[in-house]
Amino acid sequence: MSAAERWDAKYADWQEPSPASDFITGQAGLLADCPTAVDLAGGTGGTALWLAERGIDTALVDVSDRALEIARNAAAERGVPLHTICADLEADPLPTPAQLTRLAASAVSDGGWHAVVCTNFLHRPPLGALRDFLVPGGIALVLIATVDNLLHNARPGRPFVVERGELPEVCSGLDTISFDEGWFGLRHEARLVARRPS
Ligand SMILES: C[S@@+](CC[C@H](N)C(=O)[O-])C[C@H]1O[C@@H](n2cnc3c(N)ncnc32)[C@H](O)[C@@H]1O
Repeated sequence: MSAAERWDAKYADWQEPSPASDFITGQAGLLADCPTAVDLAGGTGGTALWLAERGIDTALVDVSDRALEIARNAAAERGVPLHTICADLEADPLPTPAQLTRLAASAVSDGGWHAVVCTNFLHRPPLGALRDFLVPGGIALVLIATVDNLLHNARPGRPFVVERGELPEVCSGLDTISFDEGWFGLRHEARLVARRPS
């Protein structure tokens, strides 16, 4: 079964987006200056919609077309503009603003995203390439469970967690603004806020 089939099946009965990530909403001040953002493997779009509702031109990328459909329905109901891109981030290149007609025509799309968000999805190559998909000064917000999470939680499994201290190395070429690792509620997570050098 492909990743798309697996995740489409998981989301088949969902009707509403998940809540926005508290890690991302906690960075509202930093994100306020970002005209564009992309949420990688953003699922049903809770975080992407939260970004779009703040006036950020936002794209949601996911392998599951069912997840994107849920996000599109919620965006239409709320009257919020949201781009959705169905892509396999283990095989396809990261999307750029230039792929989206409206952003490409906009004065603010100068080659990269102003913010890239990725929560609870680990595939190291695209995270290692984030620098090239950000404008100079653009920010990356990445949250991944760590190996310590397995002490109390069976999921996400071993292939989908980072080692302690690993995340800043995975997102190479970025300047760390903050890096926190520890128990956030019932999950042990690595949370990185980083910036592409200007
Ligand atoms: C654990 S969910 C996280 C969703 C959201 N980011 C969040 O934090 O709630 C993982 C997401 O990754 C997506 N995904 C899995 N494999 C993928 C791939 N190869 N390319 C793009 N998205 C993928 C799934 O469809 C799912 O929405």
